[in-house]
Amino acid sequence: MIKKFLDLGIQPLANRYLTKKDILKKTQELFYHLEVGFNTRTKLVSILNKIPSKIIFDDKYPYRSSMSQTMKISFKKLAKDIVNIYNPHMILEIGSNDGALIRNFSKKKAICIEPCKNLAKITKRMGYKTYSNFWDIQLAKKIKSKNIDLIYSANTLSHINDISSVFSSIVHVLTDDGILIMEEPSFLECLKKVAYDQFYNEHIHVFSLSSIINLVKKFNLEVFNIEKLNTHGGSLRYHIKRVSNNKFEIDNKVKIQLEQELMNGIDKYSTYIKFKNKVINSKKKLKQIFLRLKKKNKKIIGYGATAKSTTVLNFCNIKNETLEYFLDTTPGKIGKYMPGTHISIKGYNRSLLNEADYAFLGAWNLKEEIFKKERRYIKNGGKFITHVPVPKII
Ligand code: TYD
Repeated sequence: MIKKFLDLGIQPLANRYLTKKDILKKTQELFYHLEVGFNTRTKLVSILNKIPSKIIFDDKYPYRSSMSQTMKISFKKLAKDIVNIYNPHMILEIGSNDGALIRNFSKKKAICIEPCKNLAKITKRMGYKTYSNFWDIQLAKKIKSKNIDLIYSANTLSHINDISSVFSSIVHVLTDDGILIMEEPSFLECLKKVAYDQFYNEHIHVFSLSSIINLVKKFNLEVFNIEKLNTHGGSLRYHIKRVSNNKFEIDNKVKIQLEQELMNGIDKYSTYIKFKNKVINSKKKLKQIFLRLKKKNKKIIGYGATAKSTTVLNFCNIKNETLEYFLDTTPGKIGKYMPGTHISIKGYNRSLLNEADYAFLGAWNLKEEIFKKERRYIKNGGKFITHVPVPKII
């Protein structure tokens, strides 16, 4: 049974940045009601109104994995670890994006799956076999390679509505002793950080270890190891094998994480109601901070025009009278406007940041990297505003 626990209001598509032409022509944006529910059987947390994938992942999808130094370093280290631990003959990546991970593997030993044509083009150009399709059983049947012994996917499987078909398609192509490694934002972290902005149209599911165990069981798969990552505000990397594969034992970290999830009440509906109340409080506090600063005529901008920010700004009804513009380094976002709020996005430039008294940390998940980069701004009295875990000025 799916029980609704959170209503984040009417929201635009999170990664659908508007062009100047869209603004001038008053192009109609697509909005949806963002509500979140909890499956009492599988413990899976999902949004309730799903937007068809074809509308979201088109040839203009702006997210680029290689844009942040944090992600690049993390992928390089992971590629090394994969070779050291599993030494795969053939790796298949679901959601290969701009090749941030796959570039660390030989072209003969890797297959990319990437439905966004603009991104698929990048790995094709690099010389990798790339299927520009959605991951489903039709595609799995099309793949001829019989020696796929490692499947990797980061921040993609949570974007797929039919989660059962994801795993049945994986089982279809994976060798008997093959391994699935998937990483996704962790619901436990989301809970602890009151990071309600993990929810938007692309993040259909926010997984926990508890839910993954329940979902893969049906396909005779099991989680045998996990790693905690600091990417995307706290993620889990799951190492999954067939139950019949005795090469690896179940690591104690799996038991510990499961215990922590249960201790935090991830299996109880009452936990989700408490979370909802914290989210409502968070909205109230963030609005108060903005209002107080605006009354003092402070200049506030945004730092990192993230998809997550779209959830926060639209939920809290913060518009461009309050937040003047966003700064971002992603070429596909620069010169565009934030969905729903129409706040403009300018290319990152230190002097533009220095003009601001306060910068709302849209990319709170990359806080360490940003704070290191902006030591000078902070030293000169510049301040950041964050809503994680509670709204405050830092
Ligand atoms: P991301 O982590 O992908 O979050 P989401 O999935 O919610 O969109 O987005 C990080 C954004 O922050 C990305 O657009 C790049 C931007 N960014 C900067 O503009 N400057 C920086 O120094 C860093 C680290 C990121």
